Amino acid sequence: MKSVFCSLLLASALAPATLASPAPLKPRATPIATVWSKQTKSASKRLASGFIYGIPDTLNQVPDHFYTEMGFNYGRAGGAQLGSPARGWIYGSTEYKNRFKSTLNNYQTTRKYGGKFIILPHDIWGTDHVNSSTVWPGDNGSWTDYDKFVAQLVSDIKANGMTAGLVWDIWNEPDLTIFWNRPQSQWLDLYVRTHKAIRADSALSGVEVSGPSLANMPVSSNTWWTNWLSRIKSSSIPPDQYSYHLEGSSTDPNNKLSSCNSSLSSMLSTYGLSKPKLTNINEYGNYGEQTAAGTGWWISQLERYDAVGLRGNWLGSCSLHDYFAQIIYKPSNNCGSTDYYPNAQYQVYKYYNQQMTGPRFVTSPSGDEIFDVYATHQNSKMTILAGSRLSTTFWQINVDSMSALGLPTSGTVNIQTWGFDTNGWQTTLSTPTNLGVVAHTYTNNVLEFPIFQTNTYATWAFEFAIKI
Ligand SMILES: *[C@@H]1O[C@H](CO)[C@@H](O)[C@H](O)[C@H]1NC(C)=O
Ligand SMILES: *[C@@H]1O[C@H](CO)[C@@H](O)[C@H](O)[C@H]1NC(C)=O
Ligand SMILES: *[C@@H]1O[C@H](CO)[C@@H](O)[C@H](O)[C@H]1NC(C)=O
Repeated sequence: MKSVFCSLLLASALAPATLASPAPLKPRATPIATVWSKQTKSASKRLASGFIYGIPDTLNQVPDHFYTEMGFNYGRAGGAQLGSPARGWIYGSTEYKNRFKSTLNNYQTTRKYGGKFIILPHDIWGTDHVNSSTVWPGDNGSWTDYDKFVAQLVSDIKANGMTAGLVWDIWNEPDLTIFWNRPQSQWLDLYVRTHKAIRADSALSGVEVSGPSLANMPVSSNTWWTNWLSRIKSSSIPPDQYSYHLEGSSTDPNNKLSSCNSSLSSMLSTYGLSKPKLTNINEYGNYGEQTAAGTGWWISQLERYDAVGLRGNWLGSCSLHDYFAQIIYKPSNNCGSTDYYPNAQYQVYKYYNQQMTGPRFVTSPSGDEIFDVYATHQNSKMTILAGSRLSTTFWQINVDSMSALGLPTSGTVNIQTWGFDTNGWQTTLSTPTNLGVVAHTYTNNVLEFPIFQTNTYATWAFEFAIKI
């Protein structure tokens, strides 16, 4: 949640979604994504089905089925953007209590659906309501107030039965001045101090610690990363979850899992740290990628790298605490009301949760990684979900080794296509669009079929019968 103002920049794609190709589309050099049928992995745990904020503070405001059908399983909140009297710790006891109450409600909602919950202490502290005279943790070498804050928060977590399924995210995006307006060294001191305080408390032994939750990617030129790695190594305090955010430009070649998974892994070895037990991209997707196409792309990426991901949230004020980070909306546009409907992105999560339950296939993205696929099989059915990053062009999906699916090395398959193809997050899509069944012939043991991406927002799922 870097900025609430970006929502004004809503891009509009003009062409309707279609699988026929009327418009002159520019071909790309490396448009093919591949499903490697011979290689499968364990069934999905719906690693991408979380979002940050997006849950109303009023319990049960969003009907259950919106959570259960999409497989919601990870929340992250701390009362951000609530106004007086809920501005957080730095405004005194009442304002702290009210922010904590919002956090507790979101925790309870997340647990109701079996999810894990990442608590955001920087928000409960009140970093969204600072001014030039605000005292930050550790100012002038004094940690007294911060230690008191941590002790109070721990005590309230225990008193409210909040330790199960809890992840303590030490400080969100300290590399952005809006969340940390002090030297990097002071954040490092806070980080070490907080990790040790949590681990010193045996009642919190089941609580995972996550960090560094930097806004910027893990690259060896970034001193927020390198100095942090050096400190956690020298203090022997690796986090339970290595967390960071991928919300940068869709065309930045580093802003993707392949690049970050390998850079983080080489940085860990440089600093003598073991492989992560878990990687959590606890904010994924830039504002423009809040489309069905972007959702399919992020699901494909997170599943390939076995990383947990929580959808970034680009809404502000009360809308931040509603709308599931832009996958549901309502005609009343009123934060308190309950007239919700799902959009195309919601339908992607629902399909992912309900139709893609079996073992995962290994897949690879297009050469430029702007197009990606996620594939599973269950009930003798191959299911392939496509995704892309704000681009119009021709793509192609190849399914390698049809014989590994129990099919002949040449023949015909009847492919059922579903469209997630309405534009704009406020536009309803009550069920995926049935685009019918088309027979595709193939030879040489490889199925190849084209996709015409005539707009930047739509994506599709493809199904055909197999014999495994
Ligand atoms: C500045 O922030 C502090 C909390 O850090 C608050 O107590 C104080 O009232 C604020 N001052 C103004 C002028 O808003
Ligand atoms: C305390 O720390 C703040 C922030 O680093 C600084 O602006 C201020 O001058 C310091 N005050 C004293 C008394 O040193
Ligand atoms: C991601 O990095 C880890 C090492 O940190 C490595 O074990 C794993 O194989 C990588 N994932 C992929 C899909 O390359």
